[in-house]
Amino acid sequence: MKTLKVGICGWGNVATGMFNAIESNNNYITKAGVDINIACIGARRDNPKCNPGATPIFRDIFDIPEQDIDVVVELIGGVEVARELILKSIRAGKHVITANKAVIFNHGDEIFAEANKNKVKVLFEAAVCAGTPIVKMLKEELAPNKIKKISGMLNGTSNFILSNMEEGNEFDDTLELAQKEGYAEPDPSFDIEGVDAAHKIGLLSSIAYGSSLPPKDFYIEGITKIDKKDFIYAEMLGYTIKHLAISEDNEDKIELRAHPALVSKKSYLANLKGVRNGIEVDTDLIGKIHIAGSGAGQESTASGLISDIIHLANSNEDILNVVSSINQKPIKDFGEFSFQYYFFIEAEDNPGVMASITTRLAEESIGIESMVQKDELGKNIVPIILITDIFKEDKLEGIKDKILSLDTIKNLRTIRIESTD
Ligand code: HSE
Repeated sequence: MKTLKVGICGWGNVATGMFNAIESNNNYITKAGVDINIACIGARRDNPKCNPGATPIFRDIFDIPEQDIDVVVELIGGVEVARELILKSIRAGKHVITANKAVIFNHGDEIFAEANKNKVKVLFEAAVCAGTPIVKMLKEELAPNKIKKISGMLNGTSNFILSNMEEGNEFDDTLELAQKEGYAEPDPSFDIEGVDAAHKIGLLSSIAYGSSLPPKDFYIEGITKIDKKDFIYAEMLGYTIKHLAISEDNEDKIELRAHPALVSKKSYLANLKGVRNGIEVDTDLIGKIHIAGSGAGQESTASGLISDIIHLANSNEDILNVVSSINQKPIKDFGEFSFQYYFFIEAEDNPGVMASITTRLAEESIGIESMVQKDELGKNIVPIILITDIFKEDKLEGIKDKILSLDTIKNLRTIRIESTD
């Protein structure tokens, strides 16, 4: 049995969740050949929800890397102070485990280079989908494969909110519930604006394709513009709405994006509801692999963190971090992508309105795959729902402006359609 001495930095929900899980699931952990010794905690204040017993608490987190420990578990969150703490730990010869996707997304290349120089490891399973395994799976189990595409719902809060809206609930009520359940980030705009999912796909893209950390800017859109009525119309056309994060290696460029999309109701991802994260990894040797599980919350995150501690204890000290930035392929410009689109248009119920819309689309050589016109929304206002043929993203804003410039059009929103063949 190998004993690993651990120093925890941060003493909030995630840290106390890990502390409790190490105690409650100790049988399973020792069965994996590891004795985890929580040697010290760095926390500015006590947490009334968790008593750490005799474990010494240091009020300055920067004292932790100086203690007699093997690994620092960074759970303070944020970016710049976390970076400093991680670099100090690495330079003190400590391995680092973190659940902090933002710090690895923004400073990963620097952190891994420093870790390799100092011959320590930096592990971050819990940073992507909490305990649902994907980071080590990509690095190890799938290592012999060419990874063609990674796509999925990487933000539990967004999936929770969208699933609830699909059931007819309001956005704000569901967000409040996600905050109460502890799924949402301290600043929930990170969840609902797509930033959290973007951080996670950035990390996976770095593992699979060696894209840099931080990556060059890429397209990020959240779920705030989705209306619950969109689910009703999407369903009529055989779709539901998910927030997807996607990375793909398409020969000369890396595709990286995070945005809502209509996905076929028949697809694997469409059927994962609630706080569940779901990922589809398309590989050359195994084909498509599906992974799903809770991607947020104290217990799931604890599982991811402890899995890294076990991995560290059982792994070869000589094999260090996979270095990012080995691949300098550019990130594909978002304007170069092509999609089919869902258009929701509120129009005056007058003769010729439909013709004026289709004329604007035809002027841009955009065809229509299907069209639904439903009952009145209000006085003489009808919703028109279109599914367009595929066209290039860089035409989208222009065509929206053209349609909105018609006096008879009162509102327009669009959602991309993700092909899930
Ligand atoms: N706020 C995140 C989510 C949880 O909702 O998925 C941790 O990444």
